[in-house]
Amino acid sequence: MRTIAITSGKGGVGKTNISANIGIQMARRARRVVVFDADLGLANLDVVLGTPAQFTLQHILTGEKTLSQIVSEGPAGMRFIAGGSGVEALINLSGPQLERFLSELAELERTTDILIFDTGAGIDSNVMTFLQAADETLLICTPDPASMTDAYATAKSLWARRPDAVIRVVLNMVIDDAHAKAVFAKLRSITEQFLGKSLLFGGYVRHDPKAVEWIRKRKPFSLADPGSPASQDVCAVAASLLGVDFEPVKLTLADKLRSAFGFQYRQAS
Ligand SMILES: Nc1ncnc2c1ncn2[C@@H]1O[C@H](COP(=O)(O)OP(=O)(O)OP(=O)(O)O)[C@@H](O)[C@H]1O
Ligand SMILES: [Mg+2]
Repeated sequence: MRTIAITSGKGGVGKTNISANIGIQMARRARRVVVFDADLGLANLDVVLGTPAQFTLQHILTGEKTLSQIVSEGPAGMRFIAGGSGVEALINLSGPQLERFLSELAELERTTDILIFDTGAGIDSNVMTFLQAADETLLICTPDPASMTDAYATAKSLWARRPDAVIRVVLNMVIDDAHAKAVFAKLRSITEQFLGKSLLFGGYVRHDPKAVEWIRKRKPFSLADPGSPASQDVCAVAASLLGVDFEPVKLTLADKLRSAFGFQYRQAS
């Protein structure tokens, strides 16, 4: 199973909409996709998908349900896990409860090709846990200078914890291809200069008033209006992610999370 964390430095830059629409587009290409709402602050993946979730992470924390039982069916065959306030409790699990959760993850791995974490914004340890555990990070950034500065801070923070982290930048709300590449070039040159590391280009999504309309109606825009600029662009980002050579890693997600949790414990002590 491949795991992709979708994150941003600054909030409100399009993470959840990109997670939802990329998940849908990958599912349409016959991949078994689960999008995991890992945002502690504003868990709204189910709203963006227009599909209310019956169960959330809270149900596994209370022991009422197993992880597989709280996976909801989303549009176009994608599946999702609604998080809510359960995410913070999950990250703070320890002992037998953590072991139970990790063994349930192993079950999810058997039925899933791609797991996408829709994380919160910023660099707090809750966000970093998911970025460290994932195989790669999709860092969403807009041309807004504050978003670029905060994207730099996210990259810096992740590389400090995990020097081998693969970070692809997706520029959202850009005018066109040239605009996306110019913004990316600026961000990449700053990270190369100050951090000595290279960000990868993950593509872009154009600013699209039609997409905003669909977001307001709580319908994933890439299904509602496949011809719109933002829809075409998220398809291209999804396709390029699927086309990227992917070395299957021997570690299971449970192993990777174990080491990410371990890092937090070391930080705290
Ligand atoms: N391509 C786009 N074109 C125009 N507007 C967009 C685009 N993508 C996102 N938006 C706008 O940005 C808003 C925020 O999107 P979204 O909720 O996906 O961001 P987020 O990064 O998940 O936010 P948060 O940090 O609160 O979780 C949308 O409601 C929409 O108005
Ligand atoms: Mg969000």
